[in-house]
Parts: sequence; structure tokens; C-alpha cells
Amino acid sequence: MQVASKMDEVRNQVIELAQAAPTAHELMHRMVRLLRERVLKYNWVGFYLLEPGAQPPMLVLGAFEGAMTPHVRIPLNQGICGAAASSGQTVVVDDVSNDPRYLACSLETRSEIVVPVFAHGKVVGELDIDSHFPAAFTREHQDLVQCCAMLVGKKLETSGP
Ligand code: SME
Repeated sequence: MQVASKMDEVRNQVIELAQAAPTAHELMHRMVRLLRERVLKYNWVGFYLLEPGAQPPMLVLGAFEGAMTPHVRIPLNQGICGAAASSGQTVVVDDVSNDPRYLACSLETRSEIVVPVFAHGKVVGELDIDSHFPAAFTREHQDLVQCCAMLVGKKLETSGP
């Protein structure tokens, strides 16, 4: 019998959350808590959502677990967060000290991943995870975080915010 990997277990738990959560808002709150509890290298886990109608466009901090960040509102031309939202692409930074775009949240952060959340074909927000470990976001972590962002996008489409 094959033993499920830790990543498979977490993925299954996240899928269960998505099925049970009544709204995308509730799903995001439950998801950040689960990810931070279950994956020890995820030291800060949070969602940023695009503010509806804001000009210029602005990312606003939503559900998060970890230390309070000074970056509650991030314009799209700033940070790793802005880069992911404006390009619609996952951004993985193995060493934040080498990336001039990086906006510091904690002095202990060494690596970061930001995955855009799409609803109805448009970027509506993103899932941001920081780690105290360098190069924490290997391929299997990227797959997990992309699955999480996809589930939130689908929930937004089917159940609303
Ligand atoms: N590091 C992010 C800012 C958000 S905090 O990490 C929570 C960035 O460079 O955009």
C-alpha cells in the first residue's frame, strides 16, 4: 500500500475545506490557518485581494496567519505581490535578499511564493507565503499553493465572496 505524502495529505485537507466552506471569505480564513499549522516552513500565509474599482489598482490584505505586516495595501507596481498580480504569473523567490522588488514583512523571511487567484478569467487577488528557510518553495510546494489559489478562485465564482 502506498503511503500518502505530507503534501498529498495537505492537498486533500484543503480540498475538503473548499467543499465545506460556505463562502470564499470563510475558505480563505480556514485555508491560511490550515497551511500555517500543517506546513512548518510556511511562516506567514495570507491573501491579498484587489480592491474593487480602485484606481490605481490596489492589493489589500485579507485573511492571514503570522506576524502583522506593514504592507496592508500594495500597489501593483510594488513588491513581489505587485509583480504576481500584474503579470498573472506565480512568482517564486528563493532568496529575498537578492530580489530588489521584495518588500520586507519580517527580517527572518528568506524565501517567498506568490500565486495569483483568478475568477472569471481575471486576477482578483493572490496567495502569498513567506518562509524563514531559503528556497522553501520547491515544485511540490508550488503545486500545492497553486491548487489552493485555484480552489479559492473557483469558490469566488460559485459562492461569491
Ligand atoms: N513580501 C511581499 C510583501 C507582503 S509581506 O511579505 C506579507 C512583497 O514583496 O510584495
